[in-house]
Amino acid sequence: MLETVVIPLLYLASAVCFILGLKQLSHPRTAPNGNTTAALGMLLAIVGTLLKAEIIDFQYIFIGLVAGSVIGAIAAKKVEMTSMPQLVALFNGFGGLSSLLVATSEVYAGSTLGTFTLSTVSLSILIGSITFSGSLVAFAKLQGIMRGMPLVFSGARLFNGLLILSVIMMTIYTIMNPGELFTYIVWIIALSLVSGYYFVVPIGGADMPVVISLLNSFSGIAAASTGFVIANDALIISGALVGASGIILTNIMCKGMNRTLWNVLFVGIESSGAGGEAVAGPQKSAKSYEPEDTVVIFENAKRVVIVPGYGMAVAQAQHMVHEFQKTLEAKGAIVKYAIHPVAGRMPGHMNVLLAEANVSYDKLYDLDAINPEFEETDIALVIGANDVVNPAARHDTTSPIYGMPILDVDKAQTVFVLKRSMNPGYAGIENELFFNDNTIMIFGDAKETVGRLTAELK
Ligand code: TAP
Repeated sequence: MLETVVIPLLYLASAVCFILGLKQLSHPRTAPNGNTTAALGMLLAIVGTLLKAEIIDFQYIFIGLVAGSVIGAIAAKKVEMTSMPQLVALFNGFGGLSSLLVATSEVYAGSTLGTFTLSTVSLSILIGSITFSGSLVAFAKLQGIMRGMPLVFSGARLFNGLLILSVIMMTIYTIMNPGELFTYIVWIIALSLVSGYYFVVPIGGADMPVVISLLNSFSGIAAASTGFVIANDALIISGALVGASGIILTNIMCKGMNRTLWNVLFVGIESSGAGGEAVAGPQKSAKSYEPEDTVVIFENAKRVVIVPGYGMAVAQAQHMVHEFQKTLEAKGAIVKYAIHPVAGRMPGHMNVLLAEANVSYDKLYDLDAINPEFEETDIALVIGANDVVNPAARHDTTSPIYGMPILDVDKAQTVFVLKRSMNPGYAGIENELFFNDNTIMIFGDAKETVGRLTAELK
């Protein structure tokens, strides 16, 4: 009864919770409930698994539960919003490691494995290992432990292709000759770990968020495959959901940058110093005002569009920005926020920050909705955004970001750009917007500048 009815029903309920949770996560208003629903699904899956008859000792499970909960609680409290991509990279890596360990333990459990189980074990080991070592490299790059720029020898990609091919051949050989499994398994694991390292190492730091999303998808596929190994329905379903949603997110990010996944993984962005180094360009000059000098323009503005970017996250200016929005509205202006799909460093970065500052969701407009409005906008206020407002993407065929959809802020009557210097953004390229006649730079930390603007306007 327990094994045939109760546990399958618990797993089914957990799968329903995961699917509903994902659906709710697709809108900011329902996202907090989505988290709770998915967490409930996880609880049901854990209860179902703990009821299984094979569990003979709860001691290690309890130790793992306590250790995991403590680490999770500390991470949730301590990790800064700007370090979230690194944290996700670590989570993916440990997801991959779990699949690798569970599948490997099945090999050493003693029972003879059939062709199907051997195939799923091999898949879990291969993808789990690549996810683990690749995610650690992604973490190290984002954390600054490893250089953000590619660290490779020439021919590394060919070397890695051959490595993966040899792992696949060894895997097929062991599936056809199960007696040889113990001879080859250690090699399969070791070479898969090395290929995960070389898969991510050549990719520049700027593309890490896409790679993390792809590795997230891999960790799901490895988990689903492990679900087949240990015949666990909840793991198969949740792994498939993670695998599918990770690949969908990867696709959305690539589209937002107007690049293919192939280009991200194997070509890279042709930047002249990606990651924030200044680029020497022709001698042009940009206008710059002090915040106090701009008040008259803000006082007369009827329509203002705020465009947040990575710099708002760095400055943690979101609360101050909300305050400024309310001050403008009190003066009779209509204020909207323009959200670019790849503004910041992770999907939904700006939405999360603005939600944290209690900015109403109905003031947030995505690219397609807001772009037609810029021509009727009095002020486009760009706060720490750079690449996502670079008009070169529209017309300069030689630009590395050519074709990337951008927010057309240059079409507004006046554009204020808040940043600390003339340094470029993530793509490492100069922004012609800064030199336009209708653009005024306001240099300084975004939080401080918006604070001064608010105080002066009040
Ligand atoms: P960026 O182009 O990276 O520009 C951010 C700007 O913020 C910089 O020019 C910087 O200039 C400024 N800044 C930094 N700290 C600041 C502070 N404390 N106060 C004021 N300004 C500050 O940002 P974006 O426009 O949001 O574009 C995102 C980039 O990341 C795109 O190239 C995108 O393709 C890439 N990317 C995003 C994602 C996701 S999913 N979001 C994934 C992969 C890649 P100063 O140093 O002069 O202040």
